[in-house]
Formats: sequence, structure tokens, C-alpha cells
Amino acid sequence: MTAQKKRLLTGLKPTGGSLHIGNYFGALKPFLDMYSEYDSVLFLADLHALTTVRSGDELRANSFAIVRDYLAAGFDPSKALLFKQSDVPEHAELAWILECLVTVPFLMQAHAYKDRTAKGEEANAGLFNYPMLMAADIILYDTDIVPVGEDQRQHVEYAREAASKFNNAYGATFKEPQEKILKEVAVVPGTDGRKMSKSYGNTIPLFGTKDEIAKAVMSIVTDSSGERPEHVYAIHKLFRSEDELVNIYEENRGKYKNLKELLIEDIDAFIAPMREKRALITDDVVREVLANGSEKAREIASAKMKEVRQKIGISL
Ligand code: ADP
Ligand code: TRP
Repeated sequence: MTAQKKRLLTGLKPTGGSLHIGNYFGALKPFLDMYSEYDSVLFLADLHALTTVRSGDELRANSFAIVRDYLAAGFDPSKALLFKQSDVPEHAELAWILECLVTVPFLMQAHAYKDRTAKGEEANAGLFNYPMLMAADIILYDTDIVPVGEDQRQHVEYAREAASKFNNAYGATFKEPQEKILKEVAVVPGTDGRKMSKSYGNTIPLFGTKDEIAKAVMSIVTDSSGERPEHVYAIHKLFRSEDELVNIYEENRGKYKNLKELLIEDIDAFIAPMREKRALITDDVVREVLANGSEKAREIASAKMKEVRQKIGISL
């Protein structure tokens, strides 16, 4: 007898920006290594993106791009559900129902809302209600585990609280989900030795051309005071075993250009298959993958909402 797999769910917000190798080793790869061990659900949180994105063309482009990234990096839609949030109107419907169960002061505690208002800016009502849409995303699918970065921990707590408020009011209906905080296995350093981050401009693009990779690698800051160029080495060990590297760096002591050229070859050998795969993923492929996923997601979500509508008394 095989135990039923736990349900894992996570959302990707299509707000733009290209992925870098720090995102890959810190977030994408840990997710790709784990999702097929669960009954996994991954979706494009396009309604959430509306809290910030103000251009239809931009949202569409971001949506295609992020799905393409995941497929090219190895996400297999035959092993998990992949769909688009806005294709499943039950998310927005349940969000409204949950909003009616929580108070304004409770939502005012949300970090995203507090940060916005602390800057003296006015938050839109979508941002204010963001945690209840996210709670709906999660609890609609009887989710057990939500793998997220530390910044999303509070949102999963909100989802638990929303499930519990509903269950208290109407009887046991929703599972209370648990966050699984993805600790960065290791912080990937950027070309200047600081954490690789798009905000520092020190990135190596994940789907970059060989020229782009070369440009980034050649800009790695080398410091001649030590035994070896540490910033080059720190990135290199993501792509080649340290056993091999120790010898290579020993043989090329002081020859930073050789070492950088080898690093370019190693990164390109790693990225090229993903980059080539990505180029073959057309908009139609993305549309088809999402359409298949959305159909299955709707089956699950509509069965759950039938129960909810009955319990809250809107189904007559
Ligand atoms: P950025 O710092 O470039 O803005 P994000 O904050 O968008 O990156 O990060 C998205 C995901 O990628 C997060 O889960 C984050 O932990 C991971 N990540 C980003 N940069 C790195 C890095 N340098 N090393 C490891 N993981 C990273
Ligand atoms: N808020 C998440 C983010 O900004 C995206 C998201 C939306 C999400 N709904 C979700 C993540 C449900 C996990 C589960 O990254």
C-alpha cells in the first residue's frame, strides 16, 4: 500500500525580470529537486501581479516568460499541475468569502501593506486584500505544504488563519497548510563577491547567450592578494567539483584570464541546453500547457467551492 502523497502548492508572480544563476541555485533548483515527490500544484499568480503591474502587454509578456523559464529549467507539467490563477475564477470567489471573515485590523498587520504605508504611500485595495487571495489559492486545493522564501511566511500564516476562521464558522472544510521555508542552501555570490542580486547589477543571467555570460564573467572582481581568485572560484564550484577545481586552480595560479575562460565554458555548457530548450517553447506551447492545467485545476476548485457555497448558504 502506498501512502497518499502530500499536496504541495506554490504560486509564481509574473512581475518581470530575468532569472539569474542565483535564482536558479537558490530557488528554482531546490524546487525542481523536490516537487515530483509530492502531489504538486504550481500556478501563475497573475491576479496577484495586478497589484503592481499596470500594462496588459507587460503582464502577458511576464506570464509567458516565467512559464517558459520553468519549463526550460526542467519543470515537467506531466508530473504536476501547472495553471494560470485567473483561469480558475474560484480563487477570486473564495478570496471574497474569506475577506468577509477577517477584520481590517488583522489585514493591516500584513508586512507588504505595512511596508507600503510606512513609506507614506497609499496601498491599493488589492494589495490590502492580497493575503486573502493567497489564502484562497492555497486552501482551495487542500494544500499540506507551501514551499516559499522567508518573505512569504506570514502569508502562509494568514492562509492557516483564514482556513481556521472558515472552519470555525461553518464546520470542518479546509486543511490548514504549513509553510516550508526554503533556506538558501548557499548564497550564490555575484560578480563583485556580494550576494548575486538583480538590485546589485552583479548577476550572471540564467538563460544568457555565451556573449552575455562572457561579459559577466570577465567583470568578476579579482583580488590578487590571495592564493586564488576567490570570487571566480566561488562561482566556479557551482559548475564543477571542488576536487577538479583545486588542481585546475593550482595549475593556473595567477592566470586569471585562463580561469575565467574555463568558467565561461563551464557555465555555457550548463546553460546551453536550457537556453536552447527555452528558445523552442513558443507562446502556443505555453498556452496549451496552461490550458490543460487550468482544466484540471478547475475540477478540483469547483468541487471544493460547491461544498463552500452549500455551507455558506449561497447555493439554494
Ligand atoms: P534578487 O535578489 O535578484 O531580486 P529575488 O529576491 O527575486 O532575487 O529572489 C528570488 C528567489 O531566488 C528567492 O527565493 C531567493 O532566495 C533566491 N535567490 C536570489 N538571489 C540568490 C542568491 N544570490 N543566492 C541564492 N539564492 C538566491
Ligand atoms: N505572494 C507570492 C509571491 O509574491 C506569490 C503567490 C501567490 C503564492 N499565491 C501564492 C505563493 C500561493 C505560494 C502560494 O511570491
